Amino acid sequence: MDLSASRSHGPVSIRLVRNRDARVLQDHLISNRAWLRPWEATSPDGAVPLDMKVGIRRLLQQHRDGAGVPFVMEYDGQVAGQLNVWGIARGSLSSATIGYWVAREFAGRDITPISVAMATDVCFTELRLHRMEICIRPENRASLRVVEKLGFRYEGLRRRYIHIDGDWRDHFAFALVREEVPEGVLDRWASGQVPRGAADIPPADRAAAEG
Ligand SMILES: CC(C)(COP(=O)(O)OP(=O)(O)OC[C@H]1O[C@@H](n2cnc3c(N)ncnc32)[C@H](O)[C@@H]1OP(=O)(O)O)[C@@H](O)C(=O)NCCC(=O)NCCS
Repeated sequence: MDLSASRSHGPVSIRLVRNRDARVLQDHLISNRAWLRPWEATSPDGAVPLDMKVGIRRLLQQHRDGAGVPFVMEYDGQVAGQLNVWGIARGSLSSATIGYWVAREFAGRDITPISVAMATDVCFTELRLHRMEICIRPENRASLRVVEKLGFRYEGLRRRYIHIDGDWRDHFAFALVREEVPEGVLDRWASGQVPRGAADIPPADRAAAEG
C-alpha cells in the first residue's frame, strides 16, 4: 500500500505518521492526559508504558503488513493528533475501523471530521475497501458529533466491546459502505448532502447503554 502522499482540505491535512513525529505526539499525549484518558484504549493485561517511538514503529509495521493506515492529522502544518485506520479485513468483508484523537488546543476546528472523511475516501478509492466503521462510547458527545456531521449510519450497541480507560466499555457502532457515498464522504459533507438523522441513536439503545 503506497499512501505516502498527504491529503488536504483547507488548513487540515492527513499524512502517514513518521518516526520523527514521536516527540510531538508524545508531548501531546503527556500534556493531554485528562482530556484523552476517558476515551483511550487500554490493555486488559494491565498498564503498558507509553513509548511513542515504539508505538509508531508498531503502527508502521502493521501498515506494511496491510493491517492498518496510521495517519497524523495536521492543522496549518502543525501535528494536531492521530487518526488510525485499523483492523483492515480484505476479501468478502473488506472493512476497517477508524480511531482518532486531537490535542485539546486543536479541538472544535472540524479537524477530525475532515480527516475522517479524507481517510475514508482514501480507503474506499485507493484501498478498495467496502466498509468503514467507527465505534464510540455513549458518553463521548464530541466524538458522536463527528459521525453525525459526516452521516455515518448508526448500526447498534456493542456491549462491553473495547477495553477503554481500564475496563470493557459499551460502544455505539456507526458505519458507511462505499455505495452510500459515490461522491465521496468529504464532498458529500462539503456540499451539504449528508442525510439527516443517519447517526441518530434509538432511545431504547441509549437507555440500554445508560442502564
Ligand atoms: C472527539 C474529538 C476527536 C473530536 O475532534 P474535533 O477535531 O474537535 O472535532 P469537531 O471540531 O468536529 O468537534 C466535535 C465536537 O466537539 C465539541 N467541542 C468543540 N470544541 C471543544 C473543546 N474545546 N472542548 C471540548 N469539546 C469541544 C463540540 O461539541 C463539537 O461539535 P460542534 O462542532 O457541533 O460544536 C476530540 O474531541 C478528541 O480528541 N477528544 C478526546 C479523544 C476522543 O474522544 N477520541 C475519540 C474516541 S471515539
